Amino acid sequence: MEAHLVVSDLEKSYFLREKRIEVLRGVSFTVQPGEMLAVEGPSGAGKSTLLHLLGTLDQPSRGRIVIDGRDTSQMSADELARFRNQHIGFVFQFHHLLPEFTALENTMMPALIQRVPHAEAARRAEAVLGEVGLSHRLEHRPVELSGGEQQRVALARALVLSPKLLLADEPTGNLDEETGEGIHALLFDLNRRMNMTTVLVTHNPRLAARMGRRLRMRDGRVEPVPGGAA
Ligand SMILES: Nc1ncnc2c1ncn2[C@@H]1O[C@H](COP(=O)(O)OP(=O)(O)OP(=O)(O)O)[C@@H](O)[C@H]1O
Ligand SMILES: [Mg+2]
Repeated sequence: MEAHLVVSDLEKSYFLREKRIEVLRGVSFTVQPGEMLAVEGPSGAGKSTLLHLLGTLDQPSRGRIVIDGRDTSQMSADELARFRNQHIGFVFQFHHLLPEFTALENTMMPALIQRVPHAEAARRAEAVLGEVGLSHRLEHRPVELSGGEQQRVALARALVLSPKLLLADEPTGNLDEETGEGIHALLFDLNRRMNMTTVLVTHNPRLAARMGRRLRMRDGRVEPVPGGAA
């Protein structure tokens, strides 16, 4: 239940009004199964861009991403959608919850997409919402939740199918220290229990230091940061 990730020579450029914006200029690294990797770097360095590519939500301009031996650039759109749903949990920097659905329904969504029966999906969603401390907010829609609660629902939704690869973009950026610590503890616990491979973007040096390994993004490339926990 763990993912092995190989990223080679990844490049990503955006084109905006005839101008080419090179965000990633040759990013290569490997994440071992069960490893926890922190991605750091200043605002605009390309962290979210990288995470979206790893999550197969966007295509690189060049280079390859191989997850568990499967080259994602060779997969069809349908295959990718299925692969993402089954194996990848994604927590966006901006949570992207569905506004018309409750916390419980939002969390159930990936399971329903995978055709898990409704009652079972609800049971799992309730359990994982409990783990992020939201048992008392199951019936609230996103506008009826605080920012940090919305972020926790997004995390619950990412975890509901126990993905082998968790990609999280500042998942505790909006939380107070104590709640954030609780979520970090949950992530470390999940990693220990299920060996979930985790790539996490963070500006929090204390959190980064507890991850197994750290990379910093700079000038479109990544460099190792000394001081991971492993
Ligand atoms: N669709 C786009 N078109 C043009 N430029 C873009 C597009 N998306 C992102 N960029 C640019 O790419 C750069 C990297 O953006 P990205 O969101 O990956 O940064 P980030 O490291 O996640 O920053 P932050 O810490 O602020 O979240 C930014 O300078 C941004 O302006
Ligand atoms: Mg970002």
